[in-house]
Amino acid sequence: MYELHPYFTNDGSVGLFSPADDDIYHSTYGALTEALEKFVLPAEPEKYFSANRNIKILDICFGIGYNSKTFFDFFLKNILYKNNTIVPIHTDNISTDINNKNVPKYNIYIRAVDTDKTLSFLAPFMVTGNTKKLKNKKLNFSDERIEKFLCADENNPKKKRENKNITRQSLRTNCSNYISGFFIKNNNPKLSSETNIIFLQEIIKNAQEVLTDPTINHLLSEKTYKEFFDRTIVDLFNFERNKRYKYTPLRRLDTFLHNIYYNHLSNSYKKALKVLKLCDFNLDLKIEDARSAVQNDNNLYNFIFLDAFTPAKCPCLWTLDFFRLLYHHLDDNGLILTYSNSAAVRHAFLQAGFNVGKIYNTSAGKFMGTVATKNSTLIKNNLTEYDLGLTKTKAGIVYRDKYLNATNEAIINAHRISVENSDLESSSSYIKRARRKNNV
Ligand SMILES: C[S@@+](CC[C@H](N)C(=O)[O-])C[C@H]1O[C@@H](n2cnc3c(N)ncnc32)[C@H](O)[C@@H]1O
Repeated sequence: MYELHPYFTNDGSVGLFSPADDDIYHSTYGALTEALEKFVLPAEPEKYFSANRNIKILDICFGIGYNSKTFFDFFLKNILYKNNTIVPIHTDNISTDINNKNVPKYNIYIRAVDTDKTLSFLAPFMVTGNTKKLKNKKLNFSDERIEKFLCADENNPKKKRENKNITRQSLRTNCSNYISGFFIKNNNPKLSSETNIIFLQEIIKNAQEVLTDPTINHLLSEKTYKEFFDRTIVDLFNFERNKRYKYTPLRRLDTFLHNIYYNHLSNSYKKALKVLKLCDFNLDLKIEDARSAVQNDNNLYNFIFLDAFTPAKCPCLWTLDFFRLLYHHLDDNGLILTYSNSAAVRHAFLQAGFNVGKIYNTSAGKFMGTVATKNSTLIKNNLTEYDLGLTKTKAGIVYRDKYLNATNEAIINAHRISVENSDLESSSSYIKRARRKNNV
């Protein structure tokens, strides 16, 4: 059974726990904070965007998208709106500067990868490439047909209502008329998708009973009538209808996450829709093993977020071989960012040819995470002699996956055998020795 449990992390954002993997997806320290502090801030986007308008990011292990979303949120708040006079004054509005030719255009491409499709459905506010379709469409009531529908006199549908106030009763009757072929009879079987959405919103707001009406349900689910209805409205109807009855764990989770996103990220989502006019924004989510996804990818990335489960659980994304592959997909001035402090991970980065450093977390006041790059000048906090020493102990023995297709179990077994057969010093003896040397 697919089971995930949401929990509040310390910053109030939601994290997920998987009983099957016996692992958390997000740090209890704060899912949102972690995304910001371990992935986004160390990438120094302000510095990057001061010299660049194009960016490519690879988000390995997208999950429910905290890292990509936080990056985008940061971009909107601190780059786009900060440097320009574009201020979103209302979610449905944006200042006229949007047409200002002097506003620079940004080109943002995020390739996200995760093996779990269901998780991506739990990210309801994600800005996807599809939203581009919406960019020039306004949802409003000016559509003549919806006007006609909402304002029709019940007794004489052709006559327009003087009073445009919609009563619950008139809406219900009009809705039934619509569903049962009012528009079909008028040779107008389909409304535009936008109108459908407005129509549904009105029903949800004013006449929930319609959703449970057996005749309507019958008509919506009958194949015979299928061609007359817009698929979007049928799907939305079914979703709304089912939501009333089916509180499956996944549905609850969905709603829960939806609320959390609403609090934390939906503003940026709304802004993002506007921003699509200014930027060429593209989120390309691949549901695939990251190893094959990267092998089949020709992009060179400015930033790679590596947010896989720990090496002990998911070593396939922490191997020397995978890092060698990432090397070919990282720009010469690019950065790989990860939360891991593991000596085996750092050693694998070093062996793959990267310069390796630590990520300093200012709010926690300590080093949390690792950064890898081809350009040594980009390293702000070098590994210390102690860190480098640790990579030469048994703890630093790297994971291997020569053909980039081994199972995690096989990689773990091979690694265990390497450790058992190794003559290297154990990490515990190394740590004791280092403490004695430093009198700690
Ligand atoms: C720690 S969670 C990532 C959390 C995520 N960054 C977020 O913001 O929600 C690890 C993710 O790795 C994914 N995963 C596990 N093995 C993978 C693989 N071989 N390739 C790609 N994704 C994988 C899991 O489905 C899970 O979503």
